[in-house]
Amino acid sequence: MRPLVATIDLSAIIHNYAVAKRCAPGRQAFAVVKANAYGHGVREVVTALHEVAEGFAVASLEEAAEVRALHSEARILLLEGCFAAAEYQFAAQLGLDVVLHNARQAQELLAATLSRPLNAWVKLDSGMHRLGFSAVALREWHGRLHGAPQVAELSVLSHFACADERGSEVTEQQLEAFLDVLDLDFAQRSLANSAAILTIPAAHMDWLRPGIMLYGATPCADLTVAELGLRPAMSLTAQLIACREVDVGDALGYGGTWRASRPSRIGTVSCGYADGYPRHAPNGTPVIVRGQRVALVGRVSMDMLMVDLTDLPDAVEGDAVELWGAQLPVDEVAQAAGTIGYELLSKVTARVPRRYRSS
Ligand SMILES: Cc1ncc(COP(=O)(O)O)c(C=O)c1O
Repeated sequence: MRPLVATIDLSAIIHNYAVAKRCAPGRQAFAVVKANAYGHGVREVVTALHEVAEGFAVASLEEAAEVRALHSEARILLLEGCFAAAEYQFAAQLGLDVVLHNARQAQELLAATLSRPLNAWVKLDSGMHRLGFSAVALREWHGRLHGAPQVAELSVLSHFACADERGSEVTEQQLEAFLDVLDLDFAQRSLANSAAILTIPAAHMDWLRPGIMLYGATPCADLTVAELGLRPAMSLTAQLIACREVDVGDALGYGGTWRASRPSRIGTVSCGYADGYPRHAPNGTPVIVRGQRVALVGRVSMDMLMVDLTDLPDAVEGDAVELWGAQLPVDEVAQAAGTIGYELLSKVTARVPRRYRSS
């Protein structure tokens, strides 16, 4: 069997959920499990959080149906709402909480004949300008939705654009815009993603929406997971499948983009971009071999990548390699590759077997 596995520590996810709840005592939380729980496996993550999470948040009806099959009671928030009028009936059957982010969705809900009323969350565009009503439109729709037969609870939510940058003016403005509509009668309010849960208490409201923090990656550019008290959930581990000596001037891999400037020992690792490792990771991106940091060298190929073992002369074929995880925060790899932990975690491909443990 190919030596590459993503080991998921479910107790880390439970711990990280508890960290979110401790940041905001008395509030409830939708564990964000869209995109296969950010690559960690929605089935296992929902099962692990079954007794502790008050709710789950997903991006589509298909994802919601999967979560409902695993949890008959939890609230399930459909973050982008329904994509077509016909979906409302199914959403009602599943007992979902649906977001309404524009007039089309609100009209379709009001025109729907449902087996039971839905919890609806009107979304305010507080400044991100991706989804949501303007404050003026939200006030108008509040009047039409409040008390409508299709609506059980009417609640409000919004989303931050820059909560990861501490002291951001945009965040201040978004928070103000949100507070501004709270004179309206809403059953529940929700604003905080991971970054806001961890650093902006004024944004906690009634329901938190922790995503990335559950998986033990940082949502904040200037705070590490260790500083935040979070535990990494996924370790992506491979092996050295070959080792060789190369001479000064020898070029490595596709395009020969790295050339040895000293006699070097090179290791080939069983992980590549078809597994989700970023192809654009540059020379020098950290990789752990035998518990030691070494540097990625040459271009990442589909199934393999190479590392410089010159300073680790005892390393041999068969040695364990960690691409990210308990010994190397995914955030460091992401930073080296010019991306974010969210992307690396959610892009680990289906061919990488997931193993689960509860340590
Ligand atoms: C509307 C909404 N809420 C919450 C989250 C969770 O954000 P994070 O993973 O930064 O905690 C997301 C993620 O993209 C989102 O789109």
